[in-house]
Amino acid sequence: MERDLALIELLADGQFHSGEALANHLGITRAAVWKALRKTTGQLGLPLQSVRGRGYRLDTPLELLDANRLINEMSESGRSRLAALELHQQIDSTNAFLMRAAAQGAASGTVCLAEQQSAGRGRHGRTWVSPFGANLYLSLLWRYPLAPAALGGISLAAGAVIAEVLQGFGADDLALKWPNDLLWRRRKLGGLLLEVSGESQGPSYLVVGVGINLRMTTTQGSDIDQPWATLDEVTAGRGVGRNALAARLLDGLLEALDVYGRDGLAPFLTRWRALDVFRGEPVRLLLGDQVIEGLHVGIAEDGSLQLDTPTGRRAFQAGEVSLRPMEIA
Ligand code: BTN
Repeated sequence: MERDLALIELLADGQFHSGEALANHLGITRAAVWKALRKTTGQLGLPLQSVRGRGYRLDTPLELLDANRLINEMSESGRSRLAALELHQQIDSTNAFLMRAAAQGAASGTVCLAEQQSAGRGRHGRTWVSPFGANLYLSLLWRYPLAPAALGGISLAAGAVIAEVLQGFGADDLALKWPNDLLWRRRKLGGLLLEVSGESQGPSYLVVGVGINLRMTTTQGSDIDQPWATLDEVTAGRGVGRNALAARLLDGLLEALDVYGRDGLAPFLTRWRALDVFRGEPVRLLLGDQVIEGLHVGIAEDGSLQLDTPTGRRAFQAGEVSLRPMEIA
């Protein structure tokens, strides 16, 4: 597989490469190049052109992640908070990787990114569709002296920061759906998955996993069971660089994780509220088999959702609750 991915790296520029040049580069035959390319591009869902006399090229160039470039693009303060950067071509899940690494003692500020996840995790046990090179899949590990129960608000803090970073790349009409779905015109552009472990009174560690749809094709996203969007669509194809975006997200998220440890959710509340898409709307909350309807009146200081129900105002913590607008429930 490593050799097959090396072929994809050579073709990532979107230019033609002759079978001979590719074969020489990898020390294999031209027939082996063709076989490997057909198999790998098929598996990764990357349309390949093969033109007699010119060679092979990918339909669309890929900007693959590059650890050096990414770190260079980060800010000084971002770099000072980064303990280690793990970049994988393929992985089961960047969150799973960091949870395993944390249990083995990995340092606070360790980051993991991958070009593809074979078992990307979404909230509520769902799968996160993670095709090769099409989107961003990144996770950060942070350690706190706090109890795990004190870390729930980080999902809101991180959601606000991610939306602001994307706005910085020209993405308008972004919104957040409590607790942490990133939406564009009510279609899902990204999501966050927090995994926490620790002693009941602290210390604890947290892995924040971020998935952002960048340029996934309709075919690649065909298994997603809700309306979705890509950043390419949101920015009308202005082409946001994957390394630049990952660098800005890491800068923002590492800072947010640090700030949360000192000041909690307070510095992020106004920013989150400004992006709250369903505030003032009737919604349904799904808690397992239970459905609770009410008017979403906004989030409280602790990040809980406040709902005006026929039996009065009630507050809900994120956990296993899902929010649906009334019209598509
Ligand atoms: C959601 O369901 O909205 C949360 C999706 C979180 C996906 C990201 S992709 C990087 C990280 N690794 C995972 O396995 N999941 C998160």
